[in-house]
Amino acid sequence: MSLRDAIFGQFKKPEGWLGRIAGWIMATRPSNRRRNLWTVELLRIEPGDRVLEIGCGPGLALKASAERATSGLVVGLDHSRIMLTQAWRRNRRAIEDRRVQLKLGGVEQLPMADRVFDKVFAVNVVQFLPDKEAALRAIGEVMAPGATGAITYQPRNRNPTRADTMRVGEEIKAAMAVAGFEMIRSEELFMRPAPVICVLARKAATGP
Ligand SMILES: C[S@@+](CC[C@H](N)C(=O)[O-])C[C@H]1O[C@@H](n2cnc3c(N)ncnc32)[C@H](O)[C@@H]1O
Repeated sequence: MSLRDAIFGQFKKPEGWLGRIAGWIMATRPSNRRRNLWTVELLRIEPGDRVLEIGCGPGLALKASAERATSGLVVGLDHSRIMLTQAWRRNRRAIEDRRVQLKLGGVEQLPMADRVFDKVFAVNVVQFLPDKEAALRAIGEVMAPGATGAITYQPRNRNPTRADTMRVGEEIKAAMAVAGFEMIRSEELFMRPAPVICVLARKAATGP
């Protein structure tokens, strides 16, 4: 395996020195910064919003979210300690001000109370979730009625095409529908080598 493949193989759960390099790549790559900022902008975060990012990695989008949720709360969840350390460095001031919290854990068992968040999102995490429906159901549990969810994805396979982006976009939409989300729609961001898709949906305002 080449060093490049070994580093990119870390993106699912960065660990050790290769994981630190993977986090540095996520934090500094202009394309990743753009993807993250674009997702945060699509969410239209209000000053008082409670925001959750699943798989926050090195914390780029947490920082952008905290700049918008100035009187709310932003929570970053990741199952990698190394990523939480990098996210902590990047958001230290807001963490000290108690506007950002970091939590170690997996989307499979969210370590937070039900029906709390107004905005919930994940950027390039969905490809690591073997059961998207179950994950989206768990995410829906922690969303307040009427809250907005956003799942962003850009294909990471070799020589990706727009068809790869759209195929996974359809899978996300189908899983969201089964998980009880409504008003499901998508936005597309042109990027090389393949576009990015963000699927947005609303947690039903009534129901269980
Ligand atoms: C490709 S990185 C993206 C990081 C960040 N969202 C970004 O765009 O810069 C995927 C991140 O999701 C985390 N992750 C993957 N599966 C997860 C799961 N089941 N629960 C929590 N975090 C997960 C990884 O540890 C990693 O930090």
